[in-house]
Order: sequence, then C-alpha cells, then structure tokens
Amino acid sequence: MRLGVLVSGRGSNLEAVLDGHREGRLAGVEPALVLSNRPGVRALAVAERHGVPSRVLERGAFADAGARDGAIGLAFEDARCDLVLLAGYDQLLRDPYFTAYRGPTINIHPSLLPLHGGPGMMGMAVHQAVIDAGDAESGVSIHLVTRDLDSGPILARAQVPVHPGDDAEALARRVLNVEHRLLVETLASLAVRGLPNLASASMTDRPVTVEDD
Ligand code: GRF
Repeated sequence: MRLGVLVSGRGSNLEAVLDGHREGRLAGVEPALVLSNRPGVRALAVAERHGVPSRVLERGAFADAGARDGAIGLAFEDARCDLVLLAGYDQLLRDPYFTAYRGPTINIHPSLLPLHGGPGMMGMAVHQAVIDAGDAESGVSIHLVTRDLDSGPILARAQVPVHPGDDAEALARRVLNVEHRLLVETLASLAVRGLPNLASASMTDRPVTVEDD
C-alpha cells in the first residue's frame, strides 16, 4: 500500500507513521510521498529525516486554490499512491483534487466526530469547543475524506477522557498521544484488510466555506 501524506505543519502524526514504519509496525505500508502546502514546516523535516520524498505545493504558485488542489491530486496519482492520509492538512480539498486523485483519502481529526468537526474546527479550537461544551470525553476519529468537511464515513474512533480542570492544551496533549496510536493501528489494519471503497462513501456537494491559505 503506497501511502501519500498531505501536511501543513508540525507533523507529529506523520512522524508517528514513519516511526511505526521504521520499527516494523506497518507491514505492507510504503510511505511514498509527503506533500505540504506550506514551506519550511516541521513535517517536511520529518519526511527528510526518514528519507521520504517531499514536495511543497504553495497556493501562490497556482491561479487559484482549485488548481493547487488538482496539482496535489495529480502528484499523489503520479506517485502511484494507493491511499492518501491527511495528517494536519489545514485546507479544504476541492473538486479538482478528487478528479485528479482517484484513490481513497483519509483524515485524522482530534474529536469524536460528528462532534466538534466542520468549518473552523481545527487545532486548538476543537479542544476548546470540547471544554466549552462541558463534554466528559473527547477522542480521535479517522474517516474517509469526501467533499464534505469532516463528514465522510468513520473508519476508527478512540475515546479520551476529559479531566476536571483540563484546559485546551492539556486535553490536546492527551488526545494527540491517542491520535498517534490509533493512526498507526488503523493504517496497519487497512494494509491487511484492504482499502475502503469510496463508492460507499457519502459524496454530497454541500457547499462549505473555509478560509483559503
Ligand atoms: C492533529 O491534531 C490532527 O488530528 C489534526 O491536526 C493536528 C495535526 O498535528 N487534523 P500534527 O501536524 O500531526 O502534529
């Protein structure tokens, strides 16, 4: 299973995957290409340290965000990726991506979807929303990516308790540890069980407004 990974920043989930691969916990998974929409981010250094080819596809190099998304899809297609993982990618993927890359794409999200997903629910905002809602638990979701933000079929979830007195940072740290574990386990299982079939995903065209980078 040739794996493409799309990143924007810190790259701790990418690191967990590449460490898992190096340690032999991801039999059948071959990290093939890391793409970033931002130059100079830590995730690119992680890819380099593990010897995985990487490229930066910045919005400014394209006529519009859709053209950039098409180039991202094409790059994964050209690298013969069987699966693409969004690991901290901070943008919506528009139609040209799904036209150019025909394989399945999965995303890891730091809450128990459908709770606390959708536009604006990224990074610390997710954990703050959990605290503000007074939820007793949060968690991690790994789901198929469709044109609807954070709404594709869920492949794996793990629960994480919210402790009294937690702030968003404390909760984020606890959730991130579980993200790393669940991601490696899920990829290992997908490599054995086979890939999800996008035809069974709920592909709808509800318009979503997110800020462009
Ligand atoms: C993670 O919390 C992930 O669930 C979310 O963005 C964050 C990325 O962190 N989609 P990292 O770049 O993998 O460290």
